[in-house]
Amino acid sequence: MGIEQKVAVITGASQGIGADLVKAYRDRNYRVVATSRSIKPSDDDAIVAVPGDIADRKTAERAIAEGVTRFGRIDTLVNNAGIFIPKPFTQYTEADYEAYLGTNIAGFFHITQLAIAEMEKRGNGHIVQVTTSLVDNPIAGVPSVLASLTKGGLNAATKSLAIEYAKRGIRVNAIALGTIKTPMHPVETHAQLDALHPIGRMGEISDVVDAILYLESANFVTGEILHVDGGQSAGH
Ligand SMILES: NC(=O)c1ccc[n+]([C@@H]2O[C@H](COP(=O)([O-])OP(=O)(O)OC[C@H]3O[C@@H](n4cnc5c(N)ncnc54)[C@H](OP(=O)(O)O)[C@@H]3O)[C@@H](O)[C@H]2O)c1
Repeated sequence: MGIEQKVAVITGASQGIGADLVKAYRDRNYRVVATSRSIKPSDDDAIVAVPGDIADRKTAERAIAEGVTRFGRIDTLVNNAGIFIPKPFTQYTEADYEAYLGTNIAGFFHITQLAIAEMEKRGNGHIVQVTTSLVDNPIAGVPSVLASLTKGGLNAATKSLAIEYAKRGIRVNAIALGTIKTPMHPVETHAQLDALHPIGRMGEISDVVDAILYLESANFVTGEILHVDGGQSAGH
């Protein structure tokens, strides 16, 4: 307990993958900063909830400051907040474009910069981006250029940051997901989405959590884009 207990910051923590990551890191005895626009306070005093839009640098500043002042350190950041709006390219609106860049790119940039500044003080840290297998394996019938543009940027930034910080004790990885059963996908779409995966099913949130916990403990792995996609990246 106390100052030796590790601290994870999870973005997009109110539901879906992020909410289960909060539980998984608590199960590993981390203290957790959980942030999203609608996040509610927790009864668990080892979880601090920081409401706010992750595109806004002030949300990132509050999340990292809460981690440092309440828990004393930042060990892990999972950049999980993200949006997915599939549309034919010419139908994307300016508002879609701003939302994608705000949540997926600014939402990564601000909090990652602030988290790394804290990790550098201790010479230790781990950052994970949550991206999509669509970046390198676009699917006919799932047009989603702005997902590829933004999540592809995160994949590239993952490798770049991994090399920049490799000798300073900070590992940087990403998981590129197939379609996962979260509130993002209504149940009536699941059968159709199952068929998009060579394994024949959508992913479960536990498949994603297991992959992130693997990366957490994989001390010789950095700059990895780990595909958790039921075989989509292998072919079809
Ligand atoms: N599910 C999939 O099939 C799939 C596939 C590939 C990649 N991913 C990625 O996996 C991550 C998690 O997805 P999910 O399926 O768990 O999605 P989800 O159920 O829709 O949850 C998204 C989370 O992000 C938060 N969020 C969204 N916009 C935000 C903003 N502007 N500021 C702060 N928080 C924001 C939401 O909370 P609030 O509404 O409270 O802000 C929510 O907690 C995302 O990055 C997504 O792109 C998912």
